[in-house]
Amino acid sequence: MSDDDTHSRLELLEQNKLLIQELFQLEQDGHKDARELYHDEIAGFFIRTDDGSYTLSSAKRESGDSETLHSKYGAFSESYEKFVRPSNLVTIAQHKKSIRVLDICSGIGYNTAALLTYLKDEEVEIEIDMVESSIETLATILFIPDVSKAYGYVKKEVETYLVDNGYLQFNKVLSTVPSNIHINIHVCDARDFIKNDAHGRYDAVFLDPYSPSKSPELYTVDFFAKIKQFLEEYSLILTYTAASPVRSALVHAGYHLGQGPSFHRSGGTIASLNKDMIATPLSFSDEKVIALSDVGVPYIDPELNDDYDTIVNRRQNTREKIRGVSVFPSSSKLPRYIGLDPESIEDVNLRNKLNGYVMAMGFESINDYRIHDILNIDPNLSSREQILALEENLHRVLG
Ligand SMILES: C[S@@+](CC[C@H](N)C(=O)[O-])C[C@H]1O[C@@H](n2cnc3c(N)ncnc32)[C@H](O)[C@@H]1O
Repeated sequence: MSDDDTHSRLELLEQNKLLIQELFQLEQDGHKDARELYHDEIAGFFIRTDDGSYTLSSAKRESGDSETLHSKYGAFSESYEKFVRPSNLVTIAQHKKSIRVLDICSGIGYNTAALLTYLKDEEVEIEIDMVESSIETLATILFIPDVSKAYGYVKKEVETYLVDNGYLQFNKVLSTVPSNIHINIHVCDARDFIKNDAHGRYDAVFLDPYSPSKSPELYTVDFFAKIKQFLEEYSLILTYTAASPVRSALVHAGYHLGQGPSFHRSGGTIASLNKDMIATPLSFSDEKVIALSDVGVPYIDPELNDDYDTIVNRRQNTREKIRGVSVFPSSSKLPRYIGLDPESIEDVNLRNKLNGYVMAMGFESINDYRIHDILNIDPNLSSREQILALEENLHRVLG
């Protein structure tokens, strides 16, 4: 994949990007009022969310809709609830002189701004690496109304980056960044950042790409495995998604994991190298889906440079190969039903379907004694350990 292969990454709507590029050109040509001139047109792309903060729309993949960058229930609130509050960073800040945070897919900077707002009373050096592939998305920050005083700091740093790198000419943002705050901006594919530029250790990682079906490159076993060397033993990776392939990738990359807090949508996922850092385990039902069905097949990207189609097709091919052979098919939510007495399923059509799936694999019914063998694991294990134990049992029983 070449650096400018943007097809691999899902970013902003094309019209929004073009507008920002025009603005860059105008300001480079010396127009002092370019930002004022473009303000209303750029603001036309903003979508107001329920807490009064704003979001934007993504471009589209060939198949599928666009996504917004944030929850429509409240973009800034989501940053706080899903990333900042569960990150333990206030406690960590109280025990350290300095903290470091990696903000992957920093977008319009809400996660960083929410963190700085949260830590505003802590006397601690704060270093944040914001990683975002789209320069146009970063530049859009300059037009978004302030959500907090700290958003002004993010704006100032973004403006400085854009001026230093020749995209803009004028320093217009008035905010002054406090001396304990150090924001480093990296405009690149987050995989390249992790491979080439990351250093030291982070106290927390915010992982906020679009959904796994749209941005699979940032949810692979290989990406998670590479991040490990930049984590403290207690650090958390926080992400809003609860998708099975993401959770499965975390397990296979060596993490413990549990449920993240929910914010209107279902809860996200929290991962750590240390099992004691996981407050809320996954449900057994979720663990069964991850360990025993084709939906738990993770995304793979061995060299961290494959394009979107390669990553998606690789997983799809594996799913097709093993579905109904070495793992249960995920159809009709089968993994959630296995082990139940079929008679307890009132819908006869569904009951027959579910039994049919497992009979095709050589079992007598969803209640087969060998299925109980698979499900027979120690309930005191962590979610990671339970998932691995279920997988091992499945392979033993299916041979
Ligand atoms: C859901 S939004 C992030 C919202 C953001 N955290 C915020 O607080 O505003 C996802 C962002 O990821 C960026 N992105 C997509 N693929 C990427 C990649 N491979 N590396 C880095 N950034 C990427 C998109 O341009 C988009 O801004």
